[in-house]
Amino acid sequence: MNTHLLALQDFTKSQLQSFIDRALVLKKEKKSGVFHQHLAGRTICLLFEKPSTRTRVSFESAMYGMGGQVIFMSSKETQLGRGEPLKDTARVLARYVDAIVVRTFGQEVVDELSEFSDVPVVNALTDLHHPCQILSDVMTVIENKGSLENLKIVWLGDGNNMANSWIQAASVLGFSLTLACPEGYEPSPELLHVAHKVAKQPITVLRDPVEAARDADVINVDVWASMGQEDEAEKRLNIFAPYQLNSKLLALAKDDAIVLHCLPAHREEEITEEVLEGAQSVAFDQAENKMHMHKAILELLINGDI
Ligand code: CP
Ligand code: NVA
Repeated sequence: MNTHLLALQDFTKSQLQSFIDRALVLKKEKKSGVFHQHLAGRTICLLFEKPSTRTRVSFESAMYGMGGQVIFMSSKETQLGRGEPLKDTARVLARYVDAIVVRTFGQEVVDELSEFSDVPVVNALTDLHHPCQILSDVMTVIENKGSLENLKIVWLGDGNNMANSWIQAASVLGFSLTLACPEGYEPSPELLHVAHKVAKQPITVLRDPVEAARDADVINVDVWASMGQEDEAEKRLNIFAPYQLNSKLLALAKDDAIVLHCLPAHREEEITEEVLEGAQSVAFDQAENKMHMHKAILELLINGDI
């Protein structure tokens, strides 16, 4: 039984579907005034080494909204910052809390914490994956399109942590995914190889953003330089310019195509103000869904129901 959420490829289709189904129910119930207490008496620790607005507040709000408690620690304030080993940190925190939610740089950090933690470790973004985000993004697609079947779902831009988690979601959930990335910024071949072995639908990496956007049902964009890549931001502006989601590129997609952006957005870089604020953008519903999804994730992992 998998109790940690480190990468989507570690789960079965029915497990990922359970997170999505539960999040949709919790959202509907909250909207109709139901108060949830499924995590009453439980506590989580958020251990964050990178900045966050949405993920931090949506996890905290999710936990409080399920009747639980939260302890937030920025890594600078912990003994980790002074060299205490991850394996000691994991074993200690696991005696105090019911789950550890981690935002960090290397995937090996969450891997090692999970190896030594008796409570679920949840990846709240690493350089390699952003699995909780993609679960709420897939939920947003289902809300808008009814299902994932027969959709052209497109990723434009960097083959980064978000792209990797989209690839793994497509592989496990069995939907088709088209990515368009500049040369040298494609997702890793090893990750694609593993995804292709499981995938029931094509996962295709193209160079041309126009070919990718044509007839799309869903277009995803993200920043061109992720957290930790600030030194490359200037150089990337030119390389990624053809991948900007503007009204001209969006016009190639289907008329009812939706636009997703995990935020924060850099307007006039990866997306124009017009598109982000336009009628086809669901970026703020997508941001809301993080909270409902995080409730589902915490409930199913902590209560051992996944
Ligand atoms: N989308 C997302 O992860 O946002 P934050 O960096 O604000 O958490
Ligand atoms: N790819 C981005 C996602 C931010 C939510 C980053 O890692 O900075």
